Amino acid sequence: MKHFTSVKEIGPLSKALELANEVKTNPFGYKDLGRDKTLLMVFFNSSLRTRLSTQKAAMNLGMNVIVLDVNQGAWKLETERGVIMDGDKSEHILEAIPVMGSYCDIIGVRSFAKLENKSDDYNEVILNQFIEYSGKPVFSMEAATRHPLQSFADLITIEEFKTVKRPKVVLTWAPHPKALPQAVPNSFAEWMNETDYEFVITHPEGYELSEQFSGKARIEYDVKKAYEGADFIYAKNWSVFKDPHYGQIMNLDRSWMVDEAKMALTNNAKFMHCLPVRRNMIVSDEVIDSPASIVIPEAANRVVSAQTVIREILKSL
Ligand code: CP
Repeated sequence: MKHFTSVKEIGPLSKALELANEVKTNPFGYKDLGRDKTLLMVFFNSSLRTRLSTQKAAMNLGMNVIVLDVNQGAWKLETERGVIMDGDKSEHILEAIPVMGSYCDIIGVRSFAKLENKSDDYNEVILNQFIEYSGKPVFSMEAATRHPLQSFADLITIEEFKTVKRPKVVLTWAPHPKALPQAVPNSFAEWMNETDYEFVITHPEGYELSEQFSGKARIEYDVKKAYEGADFIYAKNWSVFKDPHYGQIMNLDRSWMVDEAKMALTNNAKFMHCLPVRRNMIVSDEVIDSPASIVIPEAANRVVSAQTVIREILKSL
């Protein structure tokens, strides 16, 4: 694997899960692979899990790790082409990216959707420039439209906790006070669509994801029907994808929060969320504090997904 930005680069999921299982059962078994190799993690946005789990994954593989928070202590970067740089941005990304590439062997990039221009977001302008100009393998640590390390960890977690061969997995929209990108639900849908699970997406009308991502999922606007018989409830907020309201919040309906009453409609479903999660907005305390919640093992599997991906990239160097 050279770059990792979506489910497409990981190959067949059965093989990816085998590799993840190898990593999970023997996390320190590949320490020589990363010796004298450097991972640079570049963050344009905040992170807790991605930062720690990816660094831990690289350390398990014997790598050196450098972390750059672009917005804290680095020169302010210009990302637009052809501009007269007479403002507060001191360096253009066209120089910064190859310089970063010269200091490392692999680059991880976190760059969220700005939710200002759908075309820029959905063309992955920042991530693709790292791929084009760094000269190094690049993996996504959540980009504008996808969060593949999260989705891979989600898949690993579902496989670990499922009690039936073909579980019913429900992705549900839930309310949130700030406009959030579609990256996590897009990516989760993309990965679920590669499985043979029964996959349902439920949200208020107007919150349809791009069909590029929702694919063959069943869209159910009746939230109670969606929950019926579910084995996994995966909650996430996202802002509107459709024009003319791209990036906006159209609904704060608290009745979409994951609560005990809706969970009672399921087949003893497990509750999942990528975290961070707003309690009593997205999910009630009672649900996230109950044995149904698997958000902590889900987050722990972020080390496994990151280590599996970095290991495959290291093999290709
Ligand atoms: N789930 C996730 O990516 O968490 P962070 O934003 O804290 O990295």
